[in-house]
Amino acid sequence: MSTSALKPASPKASRHFDRHAWAAGYCNVERELTNEIIHPVKGKIPKELCGCFYRNGPGLLERNGQRVHHPFDGDGMITAIRFRDGEVSISNRFVRTEGWQKEEREGKFLYRGVFGTQKPGGPIANAFDLRFKNIANTHVVKLGNQLLALWEAAQPHTLDPKTLETFGLSTMDGVLKPGEPFSAHPRFDPGHHGSRRMVTFGVKTGPKSTVRLMEFSCEGENSGQLISSRQDNFKGFSFLHDFAITPNWAVFLQNAISFNPLPFILGQKGAAQCLSSKPGSRGKFLLIPRDCGAFAGQAPRSFEAPDGFVFHHLNAWESNESVIVESIHYPDFPEVGPKEDFLKMDFSLIPAGILSRCEINLVNQKVTTTSLSKQCCEFATTNPLRQGLSARYSWMAIAEQETGYAPLQAIKKLDLTNLDQSIWSAAPRGFVSEPLMVSKVGSNIEDEGWVMFLTWNGSRKGTDLVILKANNLTEEAIVELPISIPHGLHGSWVSE
Ligand code: CO
Repeated sequence: MSTSALKPASPKASRHFDRHAWAAGYCNVERELTNEIIHPVKGKIPKELCGCFYRNGPGLLERNGQRVHHPFDGDGMITAIRFRDGEVSISNRFVRTEGWQKEEREGKFLYRGVFGTQKPGGPIANAFDLRFKNIANTHVVKLGNQLLALWEAAQPHTLDPKTLETFGLSTMDGVLKPGEPFSAHPRFDPGHHGSRRMVTFGVKTGPKSTVRLMEFSCEGENSGQLISSRQDNFKGFSFLHDFAITPNWAVFLQNAISFNPLPFILGQKGAAQCLSSKPGSRGKFLLIPRDCGAFAGQAPRSFEAPDGFVFHHLNAWESNESVIVESIHYPDFPEVGPKEDFLKMDFSLIPAGILSRCEINLVNQKVTTTSLSKQCCEFATTNPLRQGLSARYSWMAIAEQETGYAPLQAIKKLDLTNLDQSIWSAAPRGFVSEPLMVSKVGSNIEDEGWVMFLTWNGSRKGTDLVILKANNLTEEAIVELPISIPHGLHGSWVSE
């Protein structure tokens, strides 16, 4: 590990990331720990850090000698790292989904995966089996007194925040119908309408799409209860993984992609492998008025989006007559072919995600796009208190090299006003996952606090917890975890 704060990443080192070290990060999680005390191997845990870092991601990538076709098909495993008075402990549990329990009992895959994992037996065994296994592997957040393990195509699973015991599939107190989609990307409104809220959505898609926008209370006795819900129909197929919020709007980007379900039905491909970019057509920004905002009850508005494809947004805010949204734009939809081995993929063929800002003028309908960095990035975040407001700083995971796609190996702090940057790098044998910005309690300095994330440490084939100072990315502490956790997805911080 090396710190290269305030220095640009070295392009030379970047082309020599260790591919074997990267591939070793796709392993099964072998143990479940309960409140095991862990100690830093470097630095000290800041005493002011008091709370829990929850993280979700695929924890099971192989069963009975069969590897998943794509890591996104791996069963969800929750890690909880608790901080109190400078002490840290770790617990982890697989989400006890119905599919995981059945497959544990039988010792083999019984379901097809959305990203192309097939049941044993070839296309004949897979054709016409259109069941989905809700793998609860994408994100974990706390709402009310429960944890939600999220997977966007179906209902959330609820868990005990302390023990990580799975309670089961949840209807959110009757808000959701059985099987109803519930996004894995809620946004937390820090209090633009008086108190903290969780804003989220569910999307049902086909030739036409229905987006349900929901807001839940996050404070006091009503925490976890639905505040508002609205539903809107849009023309065309929608792949909406994420969205952004402002005080008045929920901002979506409807990518220009099409879905041909035939190879899925015939057992040749996973459902997500049937998505492809729609030549000659462009995506759309969809702005849905929030029920608590100035445009409540009005129809959604639609604006032409730039070419390309977006999974994740950084943030959005309002300025005069515009809504500005910052997102990670890919030049094209990265397809996952049925015959490809993800561990052998040619990184030079994968499109790189570039952070860009789109200003949507609500009056003259014009959309102006500005690129904020040429470096491939993912998992960009702001200080949570700046959600929905213009933020000066962003933290993100980046490839070490300056252009083109490569695995994520470094953390960048980007000043969004002048594009100054600081970088902390784990290259060549370390690989980072999503960074969380934890702001210092009571501070109103935007970059005061910590950036926290897990890295796959290829040198020791294990997972490290890294805590950096948010303002300059210098190291506060590194903790070697007693379990190996595969490259993961999303997580959240809960203050105590
Ligand atoms: Co995501």
